[in-house]
Parts: sequence; structure tokens; C-alpha cells
Amino acid sequence: MPPNPVARQTWRMVGLAVVAVAIVGLIAWWQFSHVAGTGRGHDQGTATAIPPGVELGGPFTLVDSQGQTVTEQDFLGKPLLIYFGYTYCPDVCPTELGTIAAALDQLGPEGAHSQPVFVSVDPERDKPEDMGEYVEMFHPRLIGLTGSPEQVAKAAKAWRVYYAKVELTGPDDYAMDHSAYSYLMGADGKLLAVFPHQTPPAEMARVIREKLAG
Ligand code: NI
Repeated sequence: MPPNPVARQTWRMVGLAVVAVAIVGLIAWWQFSHVAGTGRGHDQGTATAIPPGVELGGPFTLVDSQGQTVTEQDFLGKPLLIYFGYTYCPDVCPTELGTIAAALDQLGPEGAHSQPVFVSVDPERDKPEDMGEYVEMFHPRLIGLTGSPEQVAKAAKAWRVYYAKVELTGPDDYAMDHSAYSYLMGADGKLLAVFPHQTPPAEMARVIREKLAG
């Protein structure tokens, strides 16, 4: 018995709907994996859209450059611009911290109430005083946090920061492979924006201004 035209039409609609759902799903997946930053690449571009339901950040316990323990409670009420990296980083981290510094300078008084934070993913080598000396080179308001390997791992996990040791020649010589996004967190601790590596400072400043004004 041949299928009647109404049934055929219905099946065609169902087929189209399945394809549409698959496409939307693929886009959502791509954006999610992009934001999560689990890849090794250092993407460049502008602020990454945050898919609905994606939340980054959370409670952390780390150590400041004076050796004092700090937690997220110490930053409540302040928007954070947070970036994870390490002081031995040859290129990506210095570039990104330079971008953050330039964006803050462009923001001027508008960005004065936000707190830029650099968190080490190399606690083995980055001791509190090293972090202090390092961040001073980039911006007077930038603070550097490190901690025990466990403390760092917990903070990195909260922001879904990927990092891994890469052995180089020599027993003590290694690099850290790590994702390189900057995260703008609101005063309430909620994620407001994600900046891939090589976001231009002007773009970063523009998005921070927009997000903190809204
Ligand atoms: Ni780096």
C-alpha cells in the first residue's frame, strides 16, 4: 500500500526538525567547548559568547604574594578579571597580561573598581613572592595568586582551565601547556565575559565597560 501524501509530509517535517535540532546541538557544543577552553590552541578574536547555563568560577583558596591565604570572599563586591598562567611562560602569558594591563589603562576610572588577578598553574615554581614580582611588571593593580598544587587544581577546575606539564630537555626544565582565556566575573561572582587569547585591548575594554555598566 503506498504511503498517503499527508503521512509523507509529516515524515518530511519530522526529518527537517531532526536536522535542525542536530545543527543547533552542534553549534551549542562548539561554543561550549570553546568557552571551556579544554583545547590546546590559543584562539584569538573577540569576546566569546557564553552559552546559556554555562557557569564558571566558584569558591577558591589561594595564596597572595605576601603569603597570605585568600578566598573568593576577599573579592566579593568587586568584579574580577581573572587569568590563569605561569611566570615562566615564554609568550602567551606575558602577551595576555599586557593586554589586560592595556585594557585597564584604556578603561581608566571606569575599570578602577575591578580587580585584575593572575593565578599560577605552576605552583611548583611560582612561589608567592615570585608572583608579586612578576605581576608588578605588568600593572600596579594586578595581583598574583598561587597556592599548593591542590589549591591551584581546585581553582583551575572551577574555571575549567586546562593545564599540563610538558617536559623539556633537562631534569628541571618544563613548560606548562594551558588554556589562555581571561574571565570577567561580576561583583556577585557570576561569569560576565570570556576573552580568548589575543583579544585586542580595545575590545576587552569595550566589553568590560559594557558588562560593568549593565
Ligand atoms: Ni602561558
